[in-house]
Amino acid sequence: MSATAQAQPNIALVKYWGKRNPARNLPATGSLSITLASLLTRMTVEFDDSLSQDELRVNGAAAPAMLPRVSACLDHLLGERRSPAAVNSDCNFPIAAGLASSAAAFAALVVAASRAAGVTLDTQTLARAAGYASGSAARSLYGGIVELAASDTEVAVTTIRAAGEWPLEVVVAVTATGTKQLSSGDAMKLSAESSPFYAQWVEQQDSDLAVARAAVSEKNFDSLAAVAEHNCLKMHSVMWASRPPVVFWNAATINCMETVRKLQRQGAPVFFTIDAGPQLKAVCLPEATERVERALRATDGVIDIMRSPLGEGARLLDGS
Ligand code: PMV
Repeated sequence: MSATAQAQPNIALVKYWGKRNPARNLPATGSLSITLASLLTRMTVEFDDSLSQDELRVNGAAAPAMLPRVSACLDHLLGERRSPAAVNSDCNFPIAAGLASSAAAFAALVVAASRAAGVTLDTQTLARAAGYASGSAARSLYGGIVELAASDTEVAVTTIRAAGEWPLEVVVAVTATGTKQLSSGDAMKLSAESSPFYAQWVEQQDSDLAVARAAVSEKNFDSLAAVAEHNCLKMHSVMWASRPPVVFWNAATINCMETVRKLQRQGAPVFFTIDAGPQLKAVCLPEATERVERALRATDGVIDIMRSPLGEGARLLDGS
């Protein structure tokens, strides 16, 4: 049987950076994110005993390099005695470029695969299986504003505000389209092993989460903006101080930060965040979206702009 699911990337405002248990891919700390609506991945999974092994196509082309992670995720979800799978993924935004494509992909994969295999699993179990493949993917099972709590044994993920309850918008400034040199996992490992700031980063995460959670509960945009920018810059400081240093930004990333600062000085409700790549994500209230888009489009080095409101978690598509 075949099934198709859709999921969107999520953008962390309080970041996940570092693992407490690399073998089980358990994050060192909790995190808080927003799930997008317009950037999306659609994943079709079909189990087929006539295949000799799993197959993966991404946007119509065979993708052998990504296959081992997909196969491992399916084994984790369904056991190694499962049938071989034909997996087809279509994605409407750049892959492995710091836009959380793996979060959307693994969230869609676990939803489609469990249906195609005829097993019914609750969302928390699916989130844990997706998180085993990519820590941030656990959050894309849920929509709106999402919190992931981490413990020594498991993660627990919840929507703390539904997408429609606080209509934040995201403007993504794409400053490079190539794939990143270093995976998030490898970069996190370097940070944990060599950055003198890593221990403080982990230690301060609970207090950043508490501030962000309260800001979401009160819909206090300024407070969310302050903690999210600070948390993002702390994460990148941890990376910059690693040996060798990990720098995902380019000149245009910094130009975009300056554009956001200028908009803020003019009173626009907007803040930035940046993940393991050179793209800048500007989070704003809807009344500022047009202005933020125009300003980022006019910023030196920006190649493309994508816009998105908040969206739903991963789900099966009609007919699946
Ligand atoms: O889930 P991963 O292994 O791709 O790591 C995600 C890391 C960041 O995007 C930088 C932060 C986050 O919380 O999403």
